Amino acid sequence: MSSSISITKSKSKSKVLKRSVNLWFVVIVIGQFIFALYILDLYGVNGLAGDFERWNAASPHGYVEQDLWGNLFFGIHMALAAIITIGGPLQLMKKVRTKFPTFHRINGRIYIFTAFLISIAGLYLSWVRGMVGGLIGAIFITCNAALIMVCAFYAVRLAMNGKLASHRKWAIRLFLAVSGVWFFRVFLMLWLTIFQGPVGFDLETFQGPALNMIYTFSYIFPVLFVEFYFRAKESKHNKGQWTLSVFMWVLTACIAVGTFSATMGMWLPRM
Ligand code: HEM
Repeated sequence: MSSSISITKSKSKSKVLKRSVNLWFVVIVIGQFIFALYILDLYGVNGLAGDFERWNAASPHGYVEQDLWGNLFFGIHMALAAIITIGGPLQLMKKVRTKFPTFHRINGRIYIFTAFLISIAGLYLSWVRGMVGGLIGAIFITCNAALIMVCAFYAVRLAMNGKLASHRKWAIRLFLAVSGVWFFRVFLMLWLTIFQGPVGFDLETFQGPALNMIYTFSYIFPVLFVEFYFRAKESKHNKGQWTLSVFMWVLTACIAVGTFSATMGMWLPRM
C-alpha cells in the first residue's frame, strides 16, 4: 500500500517536471520564432532588395563598403541564423520526430551542417572583422562556437552509431549551445528591464562584469545545467525533481519577460 502511494507521488512529481520543461520549451519556441522573423525581415528582405545599409541597424559591422569577404560572411551568417533558429525547435518536438521521421533525419543533417558553418562564419566575423564587445566578447562567443561544434560532432557520431539515447542528450546540448546567442539577447533585455538601464557595463565599449555574467549564463551555463535535468529525470528522488521544477518555472518567467522586452525594444523596431 505504502509503496503504491510513493509510486503515485513520484509519478505526479515527474509530471510536474515534465510540465515545467514543456512550458519552458513553448516559451523558447515562440521567442525563437520571433527572432527568426526578425532575421528574415531585417537581413533577408533588405538584402534581397539590395538595401545593405539596413544591415547596420543592429550590428555596426553588418555591411562595410569595399569589404566583399566580410559582407559575404555576414550575409551567409544571417542566412544560416534563420535556418538554424527555425530548424532547432522543430528537431526537438516529439510529435515532429515520431510523425515525420524522414523530415527529422533531413532537418537533422541540415541542422548539424549549419551548426558547423555558422560557427566558422561567426569566428571569421569575431576575429577578422571585429565585433561589438571587443576582445572579451570575442572570447566568450568563441567558447560558444567551440561548444556548438563539440555537441554537433557527438550528436552526429552517436546517431550514426545507432546510440539513440546518447544521441538525444547531445542533440539537446547542441540546441542549448546554438540557442546561446538568443539567450544572450533575452537575458540582456531582462537585465535592462530590471535595472532600467545599463547597470554593470559600459554602453560605449559594451564591456563590463554584468555582460560577462550574462555571456556565461547564456553561452556556457545552459549546456552544463542540462546535466541536472538528465539526472533529475532519471532519479527516483522527488526532492531533486521538485527543486528543478521550481527553478524551471522561475527561469521560464525570466525568459518570457526578456523575450517580450527583446521583441518590443530590439526586434520589432528594426523590422
Ligand atoms: C548559432 C546560432 C547563431 C545565430 C542564430 C546568430 C545570429 C546572429 C545575428 C542575427 C546577428 C546580427 C546581429 C543582430 O541582428 O542581432 C549576428 C551577428 C554576429 N554573430 Fe552570430 N549567430 C549565431 C552564432 C554565432 C557564433 C557561434 C559566433 C562566433 C563564433 C557568432 C558571431 C557573430 C558576430 C561576430 C556577429 C557580428 C556582431 C557585430 O557586428 O558586433 N555568431 N549573429
